[in-house]
Amino acid sequence: MEESRISNETLKLPIFKFDVLQSTQTKARELYDKEGLDLFVVWAAEQAAGRGRRERSWHSPKGGLYFSLFFKKLGNLPSPQLISLAAGVAIKDVMEKLYDIPCELKWPNDILYQEKKLCGILSEVASCGQEIDHAIVGIGINANTDLSGLPEGISREAIAVKNILNREVDLEVLLATACTEVLDRISRLATREGRSKTIADYKRHCLTLNSQVIVYLDKGKVSGRAFDITGEGALLVATPKETLTLTTGDVIHLRRR
Ligand code: BTN
Repeated sequence: MEESRISNETLKLPIFKFDVLQSTQTKARELYDKEGLDLFVVWAAEQAAGRGRRERSWHSPKGGLYFSLFFKKLGNLPSPQLISLAAGVAIKDVMEKLYDIPCELKWPNDILYQEKKLCGILSEVASCGQEIDHAIVGIGINANTDLSGLPEGISREAIAVKNILNREVDLEVLLATACTEVLDRISRLATREGRSKTIADYKRHCLTLNSQVIVYLDKGKVSGRAFDITGEGALLVATPKETLTLTTGDVIHLRRR
């Protein structure tokens, strides 16, 4: 396993680059214990055991962009969920800025292009009450990924940047731009204004809102109309009986109204 530490002049933050890792999330935690840095990035060209949300695996063949951003001391936040939402908005902006690709967000943190998944985000947060001790934001982008190499059920619902543009993209440029935007969005969560703006931006591009949805929860599922996102990043769903405030779950969009 090869490791190199790139000092990125524009970003001014250490990037640890590896050819292959089990997961950049796990390596970020290990490096934090070893190096004690407050802010850094772990990037792997491939992951052998990439992790997705809700204990799923994230297939990570060469060609994709897989990285984790480690942040120490993000201060007080009404909810750790805001970190994922902010990262989602940041990646959506990056797709627009770099490639003119208009994306939408599926709550809580999938980035979609024409309803197919382009990017997934996994945020692991250590907090004490509202005080965030540290967060590891893991981002997987189908950049130059050969989707035909993924399991069929996954490739059917995925899309890669190279398929949209009909060309490969530079992963270093994508990484640097993504880190800059995610850092910027997350630092703006420190103020009430910044949080409101993030939620407003998220809502403007959220495909889940005003959709009839089924949400799979840890136990069971609910269905109804998703109609709002709270200041903490929770999804409000109106069912025939009541309004539910959901903080986690897997959403299936049925139809938009
Ligand atoms: C999801 O949609 O379920 C989230 C996928 C997150 C994948 C990224 S790739 C970089 C980082 N390392 C991991 O093991 N997972 C995240």
